[in-house]
Amino acid sequence: MNIIKSLEKRRTIYNLNNNLSVEEGRIFKLIEESTELIPDAFNMKSSRIIVATGDKQNKLWDNIYNVFKGEVSRERIDSFKAAYGTILYFYDNNVVKEIQNQFPLYKDSISKYAMQSAAMLQISIWSGLAELNIGASIQHYNPIIDNMVKEMFNLSESYILDAQMPFGGIVKPADMKEKEDISKRVKFVK
Ligand SMILES: Cc1cc2nc3c(=O)[nH]c(=O)nc-3n(C[C@H](O)[C@H](O)[C@H](O)COP(=O)(O)O)c2cc1C
Repeated sequence: MNIIKSLEKRRTIYNLNNNLSVEEGRIFKLIEESTELIPDAFNMKSSRIIVATGDKQNKLWDNIYNVFKGEVSRERIDSFKAAYGTILYFYDNNVVKEIQNQFPLYKDSISKYAMQSAAMLQISIWSGLAELNIGASIQHYNPIIDNMVKEMFNLSESYILDAQMPFGGIVKPADMKEKEDISKRVKFVK
């Protein structure tokens, strides 16, 4: 699929179920290969991913609901829990610190670069899932859930959570996107 077709196909899908149109292994391969191929500053390889499925997927969303003590609706949480799984995106701050020591001139930018690389990974996996007809959305319950997630998955203190991506079968596709006047945002100059 060419890049524009792929980007067109990627949408925020909230209405998901746990029926996959492909083998789970294809999704895991997509996630592993994307993580390997995505560029990152200083080639530091700071991105980390945990993919929760099955009982862990259910427990994750129940825990998120509990951490928010009723401030997020049960219905919304259940819509994410109904998905096949959730991809948790992190970067490892130990890697960032190591690179900061090596390149002190860039000290203040390196954590931003780690986030940028994580974002590149997110768009790639999100688009790759769409190509497989798997729906997904991106959620940010961090930083409120950070401690719970670290405890639940027994993670190092250095793991910084950046996003949660529930994915699964598409129950209801997204509405058509409105066309915009892109010349307001893009200029070509000579
Ligand atoms: C960096 C980033 C953060 C986002 N955070 C959330 C979020 O926390 N919750 C949510 O429901 N959608 C979130 N979204 C999804 C956007 O709302 C969505 O991409 C946008 O409305 C365009 O819709 P589309 O994804 O269908 O093209 C986020 C998207 C991006 C790129």
